[in-house]
Amino acid sequence: MLVGFSTRDDAGVYQLRDDLALVQTVDFFTPIVDDPYDFGRIAAANALSDVYAMGATPVCALNIAAFPLETFGPEVLARILAGGADIAGRAGVAIVGGHTIKDDEPKYGLAVTGIVHPREIITNAGARPGDALVLTKPLGTGILASALKKNAIEEAQAAEAVRWMTMLNAGAARAMLEAHAHAATDITGFGLLGHAHEMATASDVALRITASQVPRYALALAMLAAGIAPGGTRDNAAEHAAFTTFAPDVTADDRLLLSDAQTSGGLLIAVAPNDLSVLRAKLQEDGVLNAVVGHVEGGSGIIVEA
Ligand code: CO
Ligand code: CO
Ligand code: CO
Repeated sequence: MLVGFSTRDDAGVYQLRDDLALVQTVDFFTPIVDDPYDFGRIAAANALSDVYAMGATPVCALNIAAFPLETFGPEVLARILAGGADIAGRAGVAIVGGHTIKDDEPKYGLAVTGIVHPREIITNAGARPGDALVLTKPLGTGILASALKKNAIEEAQAAEAVRWMTMLNAGAARAMLEAHAHAATDITGFGLLGHAHEMATASDVALRITASQVPRYALALAMLAAGIAPGGTRDNAAEHAAFTTFAPDVTADDRLLLSDAQTSGGLLIAVAPNDLSVLRAKLQEDGVLNAVVGHVEGGSGIIVEA
């Protein structure tokens, strides 16, 4: 086993041969949008993301679904699975089977198997002082999903977030490999600060983040201003306060945003300053963000400045 539970990395890695390792991960969750096809696409892109975050290539996957067939009927389940299949196809991943159980609340995701050369694995443990930190998608999907559930916004208003959440991190993964990135993780349920802290701990460094440089959905900010933030994000923020030093002028809304639980978020990539321009150019080619949100320092924990 090359990568296991101990570093809280995105996926497990098991060496098969000198030149080949297996990458395995599983992710599934309840709907965050009403449209079943979009939900399937988001859940699949999210599950594949953990493989891309390790610099690996996903190869095949299994559907995992829970569904109240009597309530919603088979057509809705079929739409969810079609969304998943669409994204898997775009990733060049074969869905080779799966399993569905009856449940009151729908749930969907994938167990994904990928491959990587053992020497090319990118974990969250390689960040070095001086590295730049680059983020590839905006923050705020947790806040927007919560606003949708509370009917504070219409599904059409979340179209930009759906577009980002259904976007594969494949291009970002290729870019970070070409730029010889030192470390990476994808931003999901623990929010930017939570996943940044995992990287800081695994790499034995401190991460300094500039809040104003962090890309976010304008609508998510508006929702925060209206007092709409999910319980999970507030819980994250309370937990993150233990290891984060905030400059006094970092706003309460920014503190929440940086802890917002993301679905199918972008990659946070640590890259040497010399390779930063290559990374940013490659990310731009792939149509994702290339926001420099901070850098790596000696020490421990997370520092956030305004
Ligand atoms: Co992950
Ligand atoms: Co995951
Ligand atoms: Co079965």
